[in-house]
Amino acid sequence: MTEMTQASNLALHRQLLRQSLEDKQGFWYQAAGLLDWSRPADRVLDDSQAPFYRWFSGGELNTCYNAVDRHVLAGRGEQTAIAYVSPLAGKEYSISYRELLAEVRRLAGYMRSIGVTKGDRVIIYMPMVPETAFAMLACARIGAVHSVVFGGFAASELATRIEDAKPKLVLSASCGIEPAGVVPYKPLLDAALDLSRHKVPHCLILGRSQYQAELVPGRDQDWQQALAGAGDAECVALAATDPLYILYTSGTTGQPKGVVRDNGGHAVALAWSMSNIYDIGAGEVFWAASDVGWVVGHSYIVYGPLLVGATTLMYEGKPVGTPDPGAFWRTIEKYRVKSFFTAPTAIRAIKREDPQGLYAAGHDLACLGAVFLAGERCDPDTLSWATQTLDKPVIDHWWQTETGWPVAANLMGVAPVAIKPGSPALPVPGYRVEVLNEQGEAVGANVPGNLVIKLPLPPGTLCTLWQNDRRYTDSYLSMYPGYYLTGDAGYLDEEGYLYVMSRIDDIINVAGHRLSTGRFEEVLCQHPDVAEAAVIGVEDKLKGQVPLGLVVLKSGVQTRDEILYQELIALVRQQIGPVASFRLVSAVQKLPKTRSGKILRGTMRKIADNQDYTPPATLEDPLSLALVRAALTRLGYADALVRASAEQLP
Ligand code: COA
Ligand code: AMP
Repeated sequence: MTEMTQASNLALHRQLLRQSLEDKQGFWYQAAGLLDWSRPADRVLDDSQAPFYRWFSGGELNTCYNAVDRHVLAGRGEQTAIAYVSPLAGKEYSISYRELLAEVRRLAGYMRSIGVTKGDRVIIYMPMVPETAFAMLACARIGAVHSVVFGGFAASELATRIEDAKPKLVLSASCGIEPAGVVPYKPLLDAALDLSRHKVPHCLILGRSQYQAELVPGRDQDWQQALAGAGDAECVALAATDPLYILYTSGTTGQPKGVVRDNGGHAVALAWSMSNIYDIGAGEVFWAASDVGWVVGHSYIVYGPLLVGATTLMYEGKPVGTPDPGAFWRTIEKYRVKSFFTAPTAIRAIKREDPQGLYAAGHDLACLGAVFLAGERCDPDTLSWATQTLDKPVIDHWWQTETGWPVAANLMGVAPVAIKPGSPALPVPGYRVEVLNEQGEAVGANVPGNLVIKLPLPPGTLCTLWQNDRRYTDSYLSMYPGYYLTGDAGYLDEEGYLYVMSRIDDIINVAGHRLSTGRFEEVLCQHPDVAEAAVIGVEDKLKGQVPLGLVVLKSGVQTRDEILYQELIALVRQQIGPVASFRLVSAVQKLPKTRSGKILRGTMRKIADNQDYTPPATLEDPLSLALVRAALTRLGYADALVRASAEQLP
């Protein structure tokens, strides 16, 4: 990029940002024109109940209509809406907008026939199959509020979400398919329904040929049979402020947070982001290689691309091993993908198996405009390998389940700026990002602090937590009045580029999956031999971070370590799910704490990752740190001293 282009694009980005903050009404009124409304909004930004801001109040629309029906009416019926590629199931086919409309209409008709209406909750616990997208859109069509639960979660996690959302219907499939084999979902669903105090009257089960599920008479229905007898349902007009979905995400306690998204603001923000950030318009192909169970899947596998009439690629497979590290590049070439979105961990997995990038070299990637990475910090090595291997712009961008769409990104569709490794570029229009110290004072350029966003948040961000306004304000708005606390720490440089460095709370990021260490600790403490547990996220070359548990045993416990460790690993897998990737655990005599009893997880993490640290003055017992260091070294961490002495050997 020439200096002149950089200067003018940087100026344009800043101008859009300024305009979005100084004239919120005007900026988002214009963006709302990207959609079809059955009633225009009375107020673009309604602050009458601040800090519960509402966007487009008085307006009415239907998200499904905007994502499906209107494209058919506009003559795009024969265009591919969803290209489904499943190396795991050995299937690959395309669904046109016309076919999508027929599927969604029928599924919505079935839902209505069993009494699901506006405001009812529907849980979707499904693998990466097109029916999952049909299910989300069918809910949107009739105003039911969906909550998709990621397939890698265990029955008890699903049960927690069922209890909180109290669904009238659960949609599931007989199984998911992972490289290691078939994962039967239906038995997990049955176990979750047994665990939950909320009794779900209806379950609709998609039978997949890889696993035959048993149906419970009176409650469960087979997907194909049920739909064969159902009528069609048309879109209902919904208030822009009506909830579209709840998506549970890890908080700092074991109880997940139910992020609530509205219809109007969500559709406007996503439509705006597709063209301005991802440079995607109608008829173009977009691929987010994530899972519908995560926010990336909601925003950029299902809603974003469909809202703008693009083709979305839905992939049931992995970056490597299904069958090889060329899977992404082959698929991009075959489907002419223009913008591709994945997590840095997926690139690391490919790099590990194909360091020379030979698989990429074998494909014609001329169609590809840019690669977008998010979900975790993108280390400069990964960025540089992907850039050199693909010879395309590789765009780090930063966001979270709560925001629903990027907070900081390079606006590839309107004002691409120079890439600075380690930075997801500048705050996106709509977001006033600031860096505050513990006292709530703004810090200067390049000084790290807590990343916060000045209220109101832009459209598309969370409205509240499901039936828990109090937790919403306590978790996000109370630390710095007038600001939303992102939970991330970082800094802004002198040009306004943002750097996101770490979390400030007990959330860890494992292969782009967000998990709560508090939940791990709860599970470990369920073991009868464990008195106390601390879990930290330690660095991992592939997954970014992995959880590591240290447990203090009850006095007098004689269990052999190895047996105990296997039991603890199995317990976490059974209670949280395989996605936890929990394999590192050790017993210690005591945990390092302050005199007031606070466990020093941050200090332990620094020891594990060989970072400098200063033991706090309030440390209760200095020996505890030495004990932890010894345990971490046994697990292959905190090995700087060991490595240093090995390097000194002749
Ligand atoms: N249903 C059931 N089980 C699932 C699952 C699902 N939808 N998704 C993952 N799992 C299981 C896996 O089979 C694995 O189980 P195992 O312990 O028996 O092997 C476990 O959960 C961990 O899965 P995963 O995180 O995928 O790790 P992996 O070691 O199998 O693969 C990567 C490593 C890097 C290839 C993989 O993590 C990856 O593709 N990451 C991309 C991340 C991503 O897209 N994140 C979304 C945010 S943008
Ligand atoms: P999730 O809610 O699962 O999307 O996780 C959001 C969290 O992932 C953020 O709060 C960050 O901690 C981290 N994250 C996501 N994207 C990035 C990024 N580009 N750079 C640094 N951290 C990121």
